[in-house]
Amino acid sequence: MHKTNILITSAGRRTKLIEYFKKEFYGSGKVITADCSSLAPALYTSDKGYIVPPITDSGYLTKIMDICARENIAAVLSLIDPELLFLAESRKAFEDIGVKIIAPDYRGIDICNDKTKMHDFLGKQGFDNIKTYNGLDVFSDAYNAGEAAFPVFVKKRFGSASSGALKINSMAGLKAALIENGDLLIQDFIDGVEFGIDIYVDLISREVVSVFIKRKFYMRSGETDKAVSIINPAIANLVVEFVKSLNLAGPLDMDIIENDNRYYIVDINCRFGGGYPLAYECGENYPSYIINNIQGRENIARIGQYPEDVKMMKHDDVVIIRP
Ligand SMILES: Nc1ncnc2c1ncn2[C@@H]1O[C@H](COP(=O)(O)OP(=O)(O)O)[C@@H](O)[C@H]1O
Ligand SMILES: [Mg+2]
Repeated sequence: MHKTNILITSAGRRTKLIEYFKKEFYGSGKVITADCSSLAPALYTSDKGYIVPPITDSGYLTKIMDICARENIAAVLSLIDPELLFLAESRKAFEDIGVKIIAPDYRGIDICNDKTKMHDFLGKQGFDNIKTYNGLDVFSDAYNAGEAAFPVFVKKRFGSASSGALKINSMAGLKAALIENGDLLIQDFIDGVEFGIDIYVDLISREVVSVFIKRKFYMRSGETDKAVSIINPAIANLVVEFVKSLNLAGPLDMDIIENDNRYYIVDINCRFGGGYPLAYECGENYPSYIINNIQGRENIARIGQYPEDVKMMKHDDVVIIRP
């Protein structure tokens, strides 16, 4: 029998996701979590939680590997972007101790984590691409030549959770935003409907086995707060084409904005997105796909086979630890 214990790192506040993993892993393996904060709620809802150093600490990798050995871990899954490159870089060391890293290859993560590289890549591959200006000089030249106009949208090149994200209506406003943060990316503002897409790419066959599309009603602190499931073959085809062009793998999360019948890829994260609970509740069972992959079985593609018009609203919950 294969070992099927999983270690979910940087688990943070993702208690609902941990609950789904526990439900699916029940009977096949344990769900172990790690986080650098002793107050990360997900540590207390998994089978066992480990407090570890921050990912930037030189001892981090050793600590994660120690946990893998002690808990007989078969696979490691991170829930935050900055850790992904680091895990992909260390893939060989993990494989040497029999541990699978559930993430794409280094190049794919590198492009997805960096919004400048991602838009260069989209442009080169011929996808509909949001015009992106690297710095005020480039934008001003385009503006003076009549090739760019306000409003624009600024956001951090390596940001997540909408950090630094802002619609800006004037040159004065843009200059002020850039004084505050020099590393902001300037983009054409796309006024349209936003979709969040959960994707699972089989780790063995590298086939896209799930594309779950939701229309976002409302975002709060960069997270999808209210959403509804929809079927849209144009989006599904675009997602499959993009994912294949970068040879991505594992669970992914993508943002797309539609304007005038064009679909613009805005953002892609090589990990579970915050809106994944709706996909799971609609039958897109990624934890079970992960179990299959860990145990050496490929998953069968089932794209667009979920119910439409299922709505999700997030709400608060609490974890209590008594002395
Ligand atoms: N060019 C744009 N035009 C309009 N809205 C945008 C644009 N880029 C991003 N947004 C909005 O800002 C949000 C955060 O941007 P995103 O690129 O997804 O960064 P993050 O990595 O912080 O999630 C998106 O979900 C979308 O609502
Ligand atoms: Mg995003």
